[in-house]
Amino acid sequence: MKKLNNNNIKLAVQKEGRLTEETLTFLKAAGFEFENSKQRLFSVCRNFPLEILYVRVNDIPDYVSSGVVDIGIIGQNVLYEIRPKVKKLLNLRFGFCSLQLAVPNESVVRDIAQLKNKKIATSYPNSVKRYFKKNDIEVETVLIRGSVEITPALGVADAVADLVSTGSTLALNDLRPIMTIYESDAVLIENETSFADRKKQLLIKKLLTRFKGVLSAKNYKYIMMNAPEDILPRIKKIIPGLKSPTIAKLGKDGWVSVQSVIKEDVFWETIEKLKKEGASGIIVLPIEKMMI
Ligand code: PRP
Repeated sequence: MKKLNNNNIKLAVQKEGRLTEETLTFLKAAGFEFENSKQRLFSVCRNFPLEILYVRVNDIPDYVSSGVVDIGIIGQNVLYEIRPKVKKLLNLRFGFCSLQLAVPNESVVRDIAQLKNKKIATSYPNSVKRYFKKNDIEVETVLIRGSVEITPALGVADAVADLVSTGSTLALNDLRPIMTIYESDAVLIENETSFADRKKQLLIKKLLTRFKGVLSAKNYKYIMMNAPEDILPRIKKIIPGLKSPTIAKLGKDGWVSVQSVIKEDVFWETIEKLKKEGASGIIVLPIEKMMI
């Protein structure tokens, strides 16, 4: 069995749960090579001094703040709830969910003011208490560790505050969302003292660069098209590229080939504008990594 090495950086990730698969996919997209079996306890990367430890997600903040590991990947919701002594380095743009207040479909409650003096079941008591305190509404929170969604049917609570991603759990339990307390995605957190160790500081910086490369690539697409030369000024306005698009002459007189990157969030609008201006043969490709 491989042994953990103190010179490597240690990353704690969720062993089994909502973030696990996407976390591993993200790490592989960032170029880290490692094996992970079903019985995973830890993995040692083959091509980077990184060790991945698989633990319970609620233990990750403690492991990071106490220095057992250098960095960790958890949901931002855990940070909001526990407020551990760790530094957030990066939002990772996966594992999206929100903490929502929901009531039974037949309830008369439509807004949070109507929850005054009501019981709210949740696994996120601190977040819920803070939220209602901020809104100056008195409520009673009931701490439930799992299956929060069945508590109204059991008569334990009048409403729930639970994590929602697809919304299926609420729908299956005849619950209706009335308010979002916060939105969350996966985040990379760091032990506050890891940066004091220069070697680790450098390694974490390298790892961050790789992570950012994956995130940038996700936000952009590579685009190629043919266009009459005279519409180039208008095309350049539509796709300014990172600095400026690459332009090459085509065999056909008066025609050029244009290559650039476009933002994912304005992708369809951009394509429509380009077609309207007279661009043709438009090809769009995903970008694997992008270092800006
Ligand atoms: C959360 C939440 C719901 C479910 C909602 O549980 O407590 O049970 O996800 O997801 P949906 O909107 O896609 O149906 P989670 O998976 O975090 O596990 P947990 O039950 O251990 O809290």
